[in-house]
Formats: sequence, C-alpha cells, structure tokens
Amino acid sequence: MKVTKAVIPAAGLGTRVLPATKSMPKEMLTIVDKPAIQYIVEEAVKSGITDILIITNRGKGIIEDHFDRSPELEQRLSDTGKTDMYNQVVDISRLANFYFIRQKETKGLGHAVNCARSFVGNEPFAVLYGDDVIIGDDPACGQLIRAYEKFGKSVVGIKSVPEDAISKYSSLKVDPIENNIFNCTDMVEKPRTKEEVLSYYSILGRCVLTPDIFDILDNTEPGAGGEIQLTDAMRTLARGGGMIGVDFTGKRYDMGDKLGILQATVEIALKNPTLGEPFKEYLKTIVSTL
Ligand code: UTP
Repeated sequence: MKVTKAVIPAAGLGTRVLPATKSMPKEMLTIVDKPAIQYIVEEAVKSGITDILIITNRGKGIIEDHFDRSPELEQRLSDTGKTDMYNQVVDISRLANFYFIRQKETKGLGHAVNCARSFVGNEPFAVLYGDDVIIGDDPACGQLIRAYEKFGKSVVGIKSVPEDAISKYSSLKVDPIENNIFNCTDMVEKPRTKEEVLSYYSILGRCVLTPDIFDILDNTEPGAGGEIQLTDAMRTLARGGGMIGVDFTGKRYDMGDKLGILQATVEIALKNPTLGEPFKEYLKTIVSTL
C-alpha cells in the first residue's frame, strides 16, 4: 500500500529552548527564512506525501496560519508587483492537504501519535518529528517509505550516535540486511550502563508505522518522565516480528536544542543561493577573530 499520509507531532512544550518557546512553538523557529516545520513539510511532500496531520496544542495557532492562505498579505504583494514572493507565499498553502488536531494534554510523543488514529485509519503512515529538520538530496522520509514498500514492516530512521551520548537516546539491537538497512529486534531506551547498550544505533526523527501501532499505544503505560513514549511502543513492534531500520542519508538538526538551532542556521544559510556567499565572507571575518 502506498504511503500518502504523514503526521507531524508539534505539541511539545519545548522546555529545552526556553525562553524562546514561551509563546512561540519551537517548530516555528526560523532557519534562515522559513520556519523549521516548513522544511519538514517540504521533505514529506518530496517523499510522495499528500495529506499531512499536524498535532498542535494551545498557543500553536500560528502553525495553522502559516499553512493557510493570507489574503491581505497576498493582495499587497500582488499590488506591489512582488510576484516571486507572492508565489512563494501562496505555494505554502498548496504544498499538501493540511489537517490539524489538538493534543489536549502534553502526555508524550506516543500519546501525540495516538491522536492521529482517525486520520490514519487502516493505512501505513509516516511520522516526522516536528523539531527534527533533515536536509539532504534524497528526502529521509522517502528513504523510509521505499524500505516500507520493500519489506512491508514498520520502518524507523536510525543513526549512529557518539558513545558518550547514547544514554540520552535509545539503543537498538540491529542485524544488517543490505547496505544501510537493518532488522531491529530489540531496543533499550536511555541505557544507563555500557552493558545495557545493544548498539550505538538510535531511532532519530522519522518513522513509517503500520496502523497496529495504535493498539500497542493504547496499551502502553507511561514511561520515562511519566509520558507515553513512542519508543516503548516501538520496542513492542521490534520484539514481535521485527522492525526495519534505515541509516538514512542527510544531515539532521535538532531544533529542540539551542546548539542544534545555531548549527542549522549556519549550515543552511551557507547553502542558500543568495545569502550563502555574503554569509560565508561574514563568517570568515568572524572566525579570524576567534
Ligand atoms: P520532544 O520530547 O523533543 O519535545 O518531542 P518536547 O517535549 O517539546 O521537549 P522538551 O520539553 O524541550 O524536552 C519530539 C517531538 O514530539 C512533539 C514535540 O513537539 C516534538 O516535535 N511532542 C512531544 C508532542 O507533540 N506531544 C508531546 O506530548 C510531546
């Protein structure tokens, strides 16, 4: 079955990025000239997704406004002959069919994904974490969808994380299948000792899930931080029949972390067709003073 639906959870509190996120959703923080979530939506669309459900909560109305038409602004741009910008602004609302639902209580990523049940129905669907921007020629979400189409199982995006960082992530038991594709049969969330580490591969940012995840989530007890963790439900998937892991290509930026936001801004600005060159010159002058 073709994967055409995607869910973007964007209802977290973003406490690691306070005070910026007191009233501004972290998913709307700007990277150069676009909010983070627009990069994520564009990746989904390039991967063949047509319908996108964004999970929001109180105070995140500006996410809906960003993907809506904006008649007054469009009129002004058109009256003043700013055709390029007019097209860019209108095109945002045409990227996909957008749907929104509120997660009424911030009970964790697993709970947020479970809010997508009626949108998803009985189809496989992609999940793109709202604070993980991945930039690459081959969209990460599409790489996972191709693996789903080939193996017919839930697929998680995986990356090797540094040894001293694994305790902040999940650790996967992996058996290579081909190239960058693995079978994942078990996992440990936030391993505390070296003995608990199954591998340095961790689940990051993207997955394609089969709809049986919803029954599993219904039966998943609150885990770390008292929240319903998506990774706990994924462990059940991994242990019962396996789950595919794709070591995706592309550079991931964590917009839930202040250093990640700075890295995204610098690296994406350097690739920008108009700003890249002048920004590079500016950086060189700064670097020479360090
Ligand atoms: P995080 O755990 O990184 O988000 O979730 P957070 O809770 O905002 O992080 P802190 O407070 O800085 O530690 C990853 C993604 O899941 C969403 C977030 O918006 C983020 O995009 N999320 C998380 C939800 O939609 N609902 C939740 O209850 C938790």
